[in-house]
Amino acid sequence: MRAEHAPAVAALWRQCFGGNGNRGGDLRAAVADERGLSLVAADGGGQVCAAVVGGFDGYRGWVYYLAVREDCRRRGLGKRMMREMEKRFAELGCRRVCLQVQESGDGNAFYGALGYTPEKRNSYGKAIA
Ligand SMILES: CC(C)(COP(=O)(O)OP(=O)(O)OC[C@H]1O[C@@H](n2cnc3c(N)ncnc32)[C@H](O)[C@@H]1OP(=O)(O)O)[C@@H](O)C(=O)NCCC(=O)NCCS
Repeated sequence: MRAEHAPAVAALWRQCFGGNGNRGGDLRAAVADERGLSLVAADGGGQVCAAVVGGFDGYRGWVYYLAVREDCRRRGLGKRMMREMEKRFAELGCRRVCLQVQESGDGNAFYGALGYTPEKRNSYGKAIA
């Protein structure tokens, strides 16, 4: 992901996640990522049609905000983005890939189809600003 992609990625995330995403407010960390874990895909016209951001803590790779533009879905693009993320994580020495999805939503069937299984955890959060 490069700086020029940021506005289109922010718009895509707003569309896909509304108030549950990072609201496109700040993509500086994704753009500055030097490990190649912030990915975008563009359509034939050069327009952003998918984006995903990853983080690596030394053991687990975390996947955030995978989004495919509505008119580009069900063509295998989400799967390709995730396979590329998994490859990049593996190259960094990552042993396990984790992510969270809303209880209902496209993500459940999608990640299930890619071999991800739900794990019982309590997910905590706190607003600090
Ligand atoms: C989830 C999402 C990323 C999937 O992207 P996509 O490019 O359409 O996915 P793919 O075409 O690679 O799908 C691969 C497989 O996943 C499954 N799948 C994907 N979307 C599905 C859906 N809405 N319902 C049921 N199964 C689905 C299918 O098995 C599909 O294979 P098939 O099309 O041959 O049946 C996309 O729907 C999206 O951006 N949704 C909104 C944001 C979101 O929910 N992100 C994920 C959680 S953070």
